[in-house]
Amino acid sequence: MNNCGISRWDDPREINARLKKLTSQPIWEVNDDYYENVILKYYDEKCTKSHAIFEESQKYIPGGVQHNLAFNKPFPMCMAKAEGPYLYDKDGNKYIDFLQAGGPTILGSNYPVVRDKVIELLQECGPVTGLLHESEMLIAREIHKHMPNVEMFRMLGSGTESVMAALRIARIATGHKRIIKVGGAYHGWSDQMVYGLKIPGSRSFLESHGIPRSCYKLTDEVRPNDLNMMETMLKLNKLRGGTAAVIIEPVGPESGTRPVAKSYNKGVRQLCDRYGALLIFDEVVTGFRVGLSGAQGYFDVAPDLTVFGKIVAGGYPAAGGVGGKKEYAGLMAAGLATGKHRAYVGGTLSANPMSCLAGYTAIQEIERTNACEIAGKMGDRLTDGLKELLDRYGLPFVAYNQGSICHLECTGAMSFDFSSMNVAKSAVGLLRNKEMMYVRKDSMERMGAAYMANGIVTLAGSRMYTSLADTPEIIDEALNRFEEVFKHVAKTGKGLVK
Ligand SMILES: Cc1ncc(COP(=O)(O)O)c(C=O)c1O
Repeated sequence: MNNCGISRWDDPREINARLKKLTSQPIWEVNDDYYENVILKYYDEKCTKSHAIFEESQKYIPGGVQHNLAFNKPFPMCMAKAEGPYLYDKDGNKYIDFLQAGGPTILGSNYPVVRDKVIELLQECGPVTGLLHESEMLIAREIHKHMPNVEMFRMLGSGTESVMAALRIARIATGHKRIIKVGGAYHGWSDQMVYGLKIPGSRSFLESHGIPRSCYKLTDEVRPNDLNMMETMLKLNKLRGGTAAVIIEPVGPESGTRPVAKSYNKGVRQLCDRYGALLIFDEVVTGFRVGLSGAQGYFDVAPDLTVFGKIVAGGYPAAGGVGGKKEYAGLMAAGLATGKHRAYVGGTLSANPMSCLAGYTAIQEIERTNACEIAGKMGDRLTDGLKELLDRYGLPFVAYNQGSICHLECTGAMSFDFSSMNVAKSAVGLLRNKEMMYVRKDSMERMGAAYMANGIVTLAGSRMYTSLADTPEIIDEALNRFEEVFKHVAKTGKGLVK
């Protein structure tokens, strides 16, 4: 496979064993002396402009920040400049950026070739006309070139709404209603998908507030990396009117935070065929990151529908889309009769020329520069370096990666699993686990704050995306900074369920 962003695939049993070991001991984190006298001092003295803006923001923005990826500990940094592998905050501090906006900028931030094309387009026709623009065809054709399963593609405004569209298509195509998702997976925030979010087995009790039960009544959750449970659910659903679709993140739930066996996706494909459900690959993160042909190319599995987001708009807004076989994707035909029931999708600013052209240009640049492979190699280098540091400092943290998607679990906050807990029977146990999960999450953010004060931006202190803009020298510099943090990590007495 050309431009392949994954050079190795770890056995999930080995990663899960390490994660289990991590969560079965108290939290290890930066010690109080270092945190209070070095980390907090950095924020107090070097980030005064960010702090002032945040103080003012709190008056007008719920929580003081607009984006849920924003780091809140001790307060959010206000960024003023983004360039390749670096971010610069309002006070002029420079950071190595492994957040990469949450994944869309595999070419590095503010990539000049895409920016120039966008500026040219804006000068010519502005960002939107509401009518057909050539760039819409160019991006659809380009995606088909790299992912032959995506015979037709409809660009939309976000990953969330693209998932909604894919589920709607699956229901029309199969005549079935139920949807199976994997516990812990993130498929956006639509009513039916905020179920079993982040933590397997959490069903509706963690994040589903404000969503009536009836909205997720037809959503079923199965344990990650568990084909037996998926088959049991598919069988059960046969008695309940059938499964319309199984939707999966192919590298594992929550962008591979819960890794899967390499053969898992093929197994899901077989189950979908056996039980007449459509297979939806949510490639919002993996599309054009793990390879130009996406996770479907890497795993050699043909999904019926593919959901896109992030890189599909080249790092620009309105990033989403659904594609697949003609018989399915064609159900979204705009304006024209589909001959069948039609999946109604739309959006005033979705599929605007700017997003389409940015995405098209980015995909071409990813191919030209071999970005997936280079970013993947940098992910391997970062992860290998972290593993070496963890060994050297005797820390129980767990580092692993799927190419340019890198995980560094310091507290195991994301490793909780309530799947085997009976909500009715063990409500107290569940509450205690939930409480400990939040203690561990708080500690994860403290580690994130320590990384940031040492000039490294991560996603919530536990995930990192590498990009084409990273070089071996930048990765090595980041490792020096991680080492500075790890030197001050000590075991605490916190974090165990009593
Ligand atoms: C796997 C996956 N699916 C769907 C989404 C939702 O995409 P968006 O944030 O564009 O709505 C995300 C967002 O991070 C994601 O990671």
